[in-house]
Amino acid sequence: MQAYNFIGKNVLITGASRGIGRATALAFAQNGAKVGLNYRSNDEAAKHTLKELPGKGHQLFKRDISQKEETRALIQDFVKAYGQLDVLVNNAGISIFHEIDQVDFDHWTHAWEKTFETNLFAAANLCYWTAQSMMKSGGGHIVNVSSRGAFRGEPTKPAYGASKAALNAMSQSLAKKLAPHKIYIGVVAPGFTETEMAAKTLTPEERENLLRESPFKRMAQPEEVAHAILFLASESAAYSSGTIIDVNGASYLRS
Ligand SMILES: NC(=O)c1ccc[n+]([C@@H]2O[C@H](COP(=O)([O-])OP(=O)(O)OC[C@H]3O[C@@H](n4cnc5c(N)ncnc54)[C@H](OP(=O)(O)O)[C@@H]3O)[C@@H](O)[C@H]2O)c1
Repeated sequence: MQAYNFIGKNVLITGASRGIGRATALAFAQNGAKVGLNYRSNDEAAKHTLKELPGKGHQLFKRDISQKEETRALIQDFVKAYGQLDVLVNNAGISIFHEIDQVDFDHWTHAWEKTFETNLFAAANLCYWTAQSMMKSGGGHIVNVSSRGAFRGEPTKPAYGASKAALNAMSQSLAKKLAPHKIYIGVVAPGFTETEMAAKTLTPEERENLLRESPFKRMAQPEEVAHAILFLASESAAYSSGTIIDVNGASYLRS
């Protein structure tokens, strides 16, 4: 995909080894950016993605961002390597099944804690360190990857839906607060997207039902989500700060 100009821009993407993060890394690299790929543990997938990126200057940053000190270290490492951070994409996310009528209390609390650590606190902490850096360097863009589940409810994964709703609210609060510093914040809220996360959590019957939800009768491709992320990270999206773009094939239309 070549539609934007990110030549000279340094982009950090969390959860970039696979899925939407991988497609986003490819799209930024195809549009001239230097890309830092964060991931947690899957070295093989991360190295494979790094090799696929066109252009030069891309790097891996292996850090578990659910650990708060790792978020500070990640931004420090990135700025040390590239001199400046222009775009942060908070994409890494997890989802854990924990149906209230089926799990014991330990499972219930574990799911809430783990989900919030990665989907909300990591993004909040990375926004903190990124804002400190961007306020010095003159601004930049942050794009947070949310979910359709924030709006329509997630009965089998309530922590996931809640974490993404909180991510939306946090993004909008920070969009207001950071606008005077020329730091622009956007959110992309995908519906089911053809990645490992989607594949792992669906039975064949669920998949069939899900395909029926969209009038397009298919899931999103990661590249379609990446396209919306690149738009929000582009110079021309500055005045769209605070917005949430749905990429869900008209499967859930909110007013
Ligand atoms: N796929 C969907 O249907 C869908 C729908 C709506 C929203 N989303 C959202 O889109 C984002 C990406 O989803 P995906 O489907 O592409 O996910 P995925 O295929 O499961 O990949 C998850 C990525 O996040 C990384 N990650 C997870 N925990 C991490 C941590 N603590 N520290 C650093 N990296 C971590 C993983 O690293 P490793 O490879 O090292 O494990 C991997 O790169 C998520 O925020 C998700 O909630 C997805």
